[in-house]
Amino acid sequence: MSTTPDLTVRIGAVVLKNPVIAASGTFGFGREMADVFDLSQLGGICSKGVTPEPRVGNPPPRVAETASGMLNSVGLQNPGLERFVSEELPFMKSLGTVVIANIAGNTVEDYQAMCRRLDATDVDAIELNLSCPNVKEGCMAFGSTPTGVAGLVRAVRPMTRKPLWVKLTPNTGDIRETSIAAEASGADAVSLVNTLLGMAIDIRTRRPVLRNNTGGLSGPAIKPVALRMVHEAYQAVGIPIVGMGGILTGEDAIEFLLAGATAVQVGTANLVNPLACQDIMDAMFRYAKEIGLERIADLTGALRIW
Ligand SMILES: Cc1cc2nc3c(=O)[nH]c(=O)nc-3n(C[C@H](O)[C@H](O)[C@H](O)COP(=O)(O)O)c2cc1C
Repeated sequence: MSTTPDLTVRIGAVVLKNPVIAASGTFGFGREMADVFDLSQLGGICSKGVTPEPRVGNPPPRVAETASGMLNSVGLQNPGLERFVSEELPFMKSLGTVVIANIAGNTVEDYQAMCRRLDATDVDAIELNLSCPNVKEGCMAFGSTPTGVAGLVRAVRPMTRKPLWVKLTPNTGDIRETSIAAEASGADAVSLVNTLLGMAIDIRTRRPVLRNNTGGLSGPAIKPVALRMVHEAYQAVGIPIVGMGGILTGEDAIEFLLAGATAVQVGTANLVNPLACQDIMDAMFRYAKEIGLERIADLTGALRIW
């Protein structure tokens, strides 16, 4: 690849070689994907949500296909923070791309302790998941109100010098208010959005398809909602926005940049096409070249509103 157009973007102190990050929960810790394509090409990789202790997640069935999307209620299955730090993080750091640790907890103290531990590692940024709809305690409870977001981010901020990205839920009254609360409490970026709370029903058994009854909706079905929320947040905050929700193609990713995102995360698309991130990066490069753009960063917020 030639060096122009320049695909580099900055999320605060973190420099990404391009705006495409593999989204939390859809790329594991990169191990399964490392044989599929050269992961050093990625802008970044976000880990599966890590909790203080190992979790087996929710009982199956925990995924269901829906029109233009999917529901999941995985429930944060992960090896726990210590194994993440000793086994998964070194592997992720060896891949030659930016590594973001996505973390979740039941209490403020959980988030504080995890941030303190991660501060002593070489992780590039921490994404506070305040938006998982599939666990009983904590997580989305913090992210759905401005006071919840502010209280948590303010308590966690002094625990680490690492950049803090706050991942917010679309299951809230006004995304501008939770984004403003994150910024005012010391977040370096907001990641928008996590999954939309949803449901599917089997009419023969009259039972919910998911054993958890409800789950998080992701994929193209949520893209218009996610795009609108990124646009709203962009008008409300000055910190960078990492946009996501239903990105399948390079064109989708460009839409998120125009709406105000500095970088994007690609989730469900990886489950459909393991080469999705690579295809999206290539298509963004081609688009920028075609329109004679020197720097992809110039697209952020360049939407021409009516
Ligand atoms: C199977 C699955 C597991 C997920 N696990 C996590 C997680 O552990 N932590 C998190 O913050 N988001 C998680 N997400 C949410 C995604 O990172 C992303 O925010 C959401 O799916 C919207 O993007 P998409 O439509 O491109 O998938 C998960 C999504 C899916 C589909």
